[in-house]
Amino acid sequence: MLTRTRPAPTASTKGQPTFDLTGLSPSLSHRAHWAAGQPISYLMHQALAHPELISLAAGFVDPQTLPIEPTQEALQVLLSDPRRAGAALQYGTTQGHRPLREQVLDRLLEADGRPQAEARLTIDQVVVTAGSNELLHVLADTLFDPGDIVLCAAPTYFVFLGMAANLGVRTLGVEMDDEGLIPDAVEEQLLRLKLSGELPRVKALYVVSCFDNPSSVTLSLERRCELVELAKRWSDLHKIYIIEDAAYRELRYAGHDLPSLRAFDEKGDTVIVTETFSKSYSPGIRVGWGVLPTELVTPVLDQKGNIDFGSPNFSQHLMSTVLELGLFDDHVQRLREAYRVKLQAMLDAADEYFGPLPGVRWLRPNGGLYVWMQLPEEIDAGPQGKLIAAATQEGVLYVPGQYCYPSEGVPTRRNMMRLSFGVESPENIREGMKALARAVRKVMVGQ
Ligand SMILES: Cc1ncc(COP(=O)(O)O)c(C=O)c1O
Repeated sequence: MLTRTRPAPTASTKGQPTFDLTGLSPSLSHRAHWAAGQPISYLMHQALAHPELISLAAGFVDPQTLPIEPTQEALQVLLSDPRRAGAALQYGTTQGHRPLREQVLDRLLEADGRPQAEARLTIDQVVVTAGSNELLHVLADTLFDPGDIVLCAAPTYFVFLGMAANLGVRTLGVEMDDEGLIPDAVEEQLLRLKLSGELPRVKALYVVSCFDNPSSVTLSLERRCELVELAKRWSDLHKIYIIEDAAYRELRYAGHDLPSLRAFDEKGDTVIVTETFSKSYSPGIRVGWGVLPTELVTPVLDQKGNIDFGSPNFSQHLMSTVLELGLFDDHVQRLREAYRVKLQAMLDAADEYFGPLPGVRWLRPNGGLYVWMQLPEEIDAGPQGKLIAAATQEGVLYVPGQYCYPSEGVPTRRNMMRLSFGVESPENIREGMKALARAVRKVMVGQ
């Protein structure tokens, strides 16, 4: 069980960050200490190390629908042409493979229903990375100094929280509901920070816009517009950027796609969009990308150049070939069908096994990979609580929701679970939910 806790930065009375580093090795950097206790590697390891347990935890994708055939076809095309193969096997550029940048930009504009001229975007604003996580990290490194503040929903993507803590950045959790982050609550926090003299430390708002990890919520159209307007209105001291993480945009099983927040940013100077092929195609290939405001391109590429002077070039050429051959959209269609069934299996099992339990609630998402479940207040679903041990005994893993709460703002809730329907078959999802409900019942009775 993960027991280390990260010495997360918090505000001192003067608004400066304070870090409790007592008892930690003086040989290591502050950043190494701030990185300690991040749960993601532990959770990924747990899922792989215990194949006998049903994993409703890890954000791995469905193993049955991994795109083996389309990838073989793309590889064949890529490797059978010596000129293409040679280019793919060589180093690439820091910014990324140009045809791929063109393809992802075209896709974004098409999805947002905006012609390039109107959206005032060029491929010079597109950066390709080794998964969107790399881009989030480079962005954080480019925008934040230790003690800076990023506002985000509570809960939010816990790897982003770890990344921010790693840089000594304060994460401030804002209330959300089933339409996503609440703009009035963001404004309230900004006012409070203004009064305490900390507004200059606020650098960005981080938003997972579609089928959020972990809450499964999609930010509503009205709120997309309001948040962009709000960030611009509060940007008089310096720019407050919106980092829109749209990792799950393609994984929609019902309802309509919504335009990105970037579509509401007329000047294109506020919203940074990050996306990835990890969920929609293959995390093993690990290609992500982002569209940046022009003034951020050079600083981001300077940071990125120091890290990798180009993300894996072969992966980028491969993804570009997959798109060029029209294999991607067919694959996404197949994925949607498979995940729709799995989501339904999880929701049906939730109705059947958790429905009768008092005080248990969950959201019914239209996409993504997660169901976010609330248990009665008195149940501790955290890493040291009784439920996780009981669940493991029953043969099932989940992600404790408490990992997903920022270090400040909305208080951490220990009675939340993130359940993923990504990896397991519909039958196992049903079994896992049944086992988990048994564990919850046991803990309820033992309270
Ligand atoms: C919200 C969110 N953003 C970004 C990522 C990063 O994905 P990758 O680095 O594989 O593109 C993930 C992965 O789970 C995620 O859930």
